[in-house]
Amino acid sequence: MPTPTDRVRNAERSRIRVMFDLAQRHDGDLVRLEVGEPDFDTPGHVIDAAASAARDGATHYTSNAGLPACRRAISDTLAGEYGVEHDPDEVVVTVGGMEALHLAVLATVSPGEELLVPGPTWPNYETQATLADGTLREVPMPAETGFALDADRVIDAMSDDTAAVVLTTPSNPTGRVFDPDACRAVVEAAADRDAYVIADEVYLGLTYDGPTEGIAAYTGHPDHVLTVGSCSKAYAMTGWRLGWLAGDRHLIDEVTTVRESTTACASSVAQHAAIAALTGPQEPFEEMYRAFRERRDLVVDRVDAVDGLSCPRPEGAFYAFLDPGIDAPALDIAKYLLEEHGVVLAPGDGFGDTAPGRLRLSFANSVDRIEEGFDRIEAGLAEY
Ligand SMILES: Cc1ncc(COP(=O)(O)O)c(C=O)c1O
Repeated sequence: MPTPTDRVRNAERSRIRVMFDLAQRHDGDLVRLEVGEPDFDTPGHVIDAAASAARDGATHYTSNAGLPACRRAISDTLAGEYGVEHDPDEVVVTVGGMEALHLAVLATVSPGEELLVPGPTWPNYETQATLADGTLREVPMPAETGFALDADRVIDAMSDDTAAVVLTTPSNPTGRVFDPDACRAVVEAAADRDAYVIADEVYLGLTYDGPTEGIAAYTGHPDHVLTVGSCSKAYAMTGWRLGWLAGDRHLIDEVTTVRESTTACASSVAQHAAIAALTGPQEPFEEMYRAFRERRDLVVDRVDAVDGLSCPRPEGAFYAFLDPGIDAPALDIAKYLLEEHGVVLAPGDGFGDTAPGRLRLSFANSVDRIEEGFDRIEAGLAEY
């Protein structure tokens, strides 16, 4: 019988799934605050556009890089909303931000090389590094500054083996938005070594405090920055699987060739949905944005009100990275909160090794459920 290669065998199953699976098996009333996707459905005008495109024959392969109109819509959105200037032919439409990241890592990390990531970090980068026969190196960011990007730490960790650095801003799991000067310093140091920065900006449209410039917009080395974006979060379109990778033309051409043998292209129907989302009425998305911001404010108030509980202020995305102020493994606390109090959070060890004692709370849920969730967390932590 054929056996899996190390590349496949070594891919770790996300530890975030542990709580998800436990919650699926539980039959009581649970407040699900571990989920990393908007609770909103895709707005109607997007669905209508996709349905009529399909009816009109958009049911075929598109070119590998995507429909010209979709690449144009992404290029215009990058420039108009985030100040990132790329011609449409420097954009490839991907199957979610995940494929964009996968392609970016494949294109930049050679076998034996390192992908550096400030921790705490979203776990999928590790598998992506493994699939490129490289390794992930997590560089812990200091808890005292709420896991703000410490450029010196990242730069000190760079070596001849460093092929790329991932900067995720706003961050999953902390909700932090990285300081532009710190990002610029990392990009400059990477460019000096001829390494890349992969800017994972899938949450950039959900930035609550301050401007939303993409990293490539304000660094002096845009050729060394690969920008990853997605319709998933800000447009409530996780299931459509539609994202993008934008950057240096040669690299984009190369990854476009590679993806011919994996996905070939993003779904034609989803590309039409993306065109409608990016170029059509923005009010439904603005409404969701305002709802997320209000929930963020609520979360900050509720965290402040619980003795011993704290978190860095979520400046973007929909996550709060809670410090429960209890000296116990976060997985134990998370299981206890689920089983005894009916509230589900993701333990910090699902996000690298930097902050295993934390719990990630997702506020992609209604105000009522968030309030109920906090009542349960408060009661649970008081009893623990
Ligand atoms: C930090 C981060 N990057 C990228 C993604 C990819 O999202 P998608 O493939 O749905 O665009 C996610 C999804 O949870 C994420 O949290």
